[in-house]
Amino acid sequence: MSGKFYVTTPIYYVNDRPHIGHAYTTILADVLACFHRSMGDDTYFLTGTDEHGQKVENAAAKNGVTPQQHADETVVRFQELWQKLGITNDDFIRTTEARHKDVVKEILQDLYDRGEIYKAEYTGWYCVGCERYFTEKDLVEGKCPDCGREVSALKESNYFFRMSKYQEWLIDYIKSHPEFIQPAFRANETLGFLKQPLADLCISRPKSRLSWGIELPFDSDYVCYVWFDALINYISAVGYRRDDAAFARRWPASCQLIGKDILTTHSVYWPTMLKAMNVEMPGSIFAHGWWLTGNTKMSKSLGNVVNPMEMIGIVGVDAFRYFLMAEMTLGNDASFTREALMRRYNSDLANDLGNLLSRVVKLTLRAGGAIPAPGEPTGNEEEFNSAVEAAVSGMKSCLESMKLDQGIAAVLSAVRAGNRYVEQCAPWALAKNNDIAHLNTVLYTVAANLRKLAVLLAPVMPGKMAELQKALGGGDELLTIGDLLSGNCPDPAGRTVQEVAPLFPRIQEEEAPAAPCSKAEKKEKAKAAAPAPEAVELVTIDQFCKVKLKTARVVAAEKLEGADKLLKLKIDIGEAEPRPLVAGVAKYYTPEEIMGKTIVVVSNLQPATIRGAESRGMLLAAKFGKELRLVTVDGDVPAGADIG
Ligand code: MSP
Repeated sequence: MSGKFYVTTPIYYVNDRPHIGHAYTTILADVLACFHRSMGDDTYFLTGTDEHGQKVENAAAKNGVTPQQHADETVVRFQELWQKLGITNDDFIRTTEARHKDVVKEILQDLYDRGEIYKAEYTGWYCVGCERYFTEKDLVEGKCPDCGREVSALKESNYFFRMSKYQEWLIDYIKSHPEFIQPAFRANETLGFLKQPLADLCISRPKSRLSWGIELPFDSDYVCYVWFDALINYISAVGYRRDDAAFARRWPASCQLIGKDILTTHSVYWPTMLKAMNVEMPGSIFAHGWWLTGNTKMSKSLGNVVNPMEMIGIVGVDAFRYFLMAEMTLGNDASFTREALMRRYNSDLANDLGNLLSRVVKLTLRAGGAIPAPGEPTGNEEEFNSAVEAAVSGMKSCLESMKLDQGIAAVLSAVRAGNRYVEQCAPWALAKNNDIAHLNTVLYTVAANLRKLAVLLAPVMPGKMAELQKALGGGDELLTIGDLLSGNCPDPAGRTVQEVAPLFPRIQEEEAPAAPCSKAEKKEKAKAAAPAPEAVELVTIDQFCKVKLKTARVVAAEKLEGADKLLKLKIDIGEAEPRPLVAGVAKYYTPEEIMGKTIVVVSNLQPATIRGAESRGMLLAAKFGKELRLVTVDGDVPAGADIG
């Protein structure tokens, strides 16, 4: 660890209510910040709201209020949710605050004075929803390449940032700093994007079309493009051009968290802006995947957006945070289902963690209430102790490599080892037989190890893990991960345990509300429930949904030696590493022809070894007569997109 950690979230648009996507990034940033604080790093955590631009102006107009009134009303929903979720941000920046707007204006003026911003006539297409300009060739079937909506033809004068001149520099920077854009496949995606000539960035909007923004200091007929304004929050909040000492203490950010949909703005616009300003690059920009409802993208129109408040109502704040952190492998998409939430809650938290605590507390109370000094080893300690040590020492590297789910899994596996240990030693029988030397060892081992595991999980579940430490006689003094790593943990022996209500009382399935389900899914489920006509072999939507189809980009291809029908491919399906896949298409495609294609694959096929080569997945192709053609997708779809 560097000893300093500055983490940021994207700043959220105030055009809507916060949903699980917003909650996820903010919880993730909070968990990272809490880990670093617990390790003794000089930590700073920034979040906030993006309050300018067309989306907010439109939302305000719809509600019949001014954009500022609208922002003032909506921002509270975010702030309240963060409070509810126990978020420990050090600052909350709103882009309508003077401290931000003034810095944006100074930056604009400086870039303009230095010729980095110029005025020119723009002719092209504009998507109101995305607030972005496109050239004719960017459009997909005449529509916005990002959201698929109608675009309007535009001819107007605007101001442009000379982004194109930094293209080569950016390519070199990304290549020479592999940690800069993470996961690595997102760096490749950015480099792929940078293969096309980079255009200059239009950074103004004429007030005649959009007035809700920061006025350009050198032309009062224009406001600043919302992304150019918003990205600057990461530095305006920590003293850029205002407080050099504060700025030097915080910047460069260690980790800038984003969702995968805002990769280009953060991996292309943001670094080139910083370069033009002569400001250091952030340590890393990490793009996480999306939460899907089941297998479907969440969207308001499908009515399947998960409301974090509702989930907190079911399992509580800490368990909700735990679920999000344990369930998503950072970088990939994850599926949110009520079943998975309940499963994790009842099994990991109620059965495993909660149970281990209540066992040790009950047994210790029965034995007098104080955690005893250990007596004779029972001979069963090894597995439990080493699982705990592995969890303690592994957490730091899991954090550094952004494999939080693995760090959490190691803690839970140590908890399970703890429950096995209790069962093997049967302390209730030891008490009955008056085998105090062994009983003391068991009670001490469980209490001491469980306390360490609670410290490791405290960044994820701060409230419950504080309760746990208290129950084990920790009082108000909470241990930190720094204490664990330095071995500076006061001995728990002699402390009095406290009777506690179950930390995670089991929730019966029927107590939980129905899973969020899209209108389309509901319709499909109803259809699937109806009896199928006997003569036709039909599959239900659930059966079909088990097959996970994804888009994949072929990133390597060669003939498989000794097999003239087979090609050995490497495919990018949006995971950290490309996958191997063997395909029987060598008679129809040469390696050169298939290279670079975006194809469709079954991503959850059981792995197989074909002629000595590993294959994880199957590609789809249409066969007709003697011909075979690959199934590809319409338009520029990124690798790893779900198909269904
Ligand atoms: N205002 C811009 C960010 C500007 S940062 C200088 C913005 N705001 S947003 O409110 O639309 O989205 C914020 C974040 O929420 C994005 O990182 C986006 O990826 C994330 N999510 C939105 N839906 C999501 C899921 N379903 N799952 C996970 N995160 C998703 O973009």
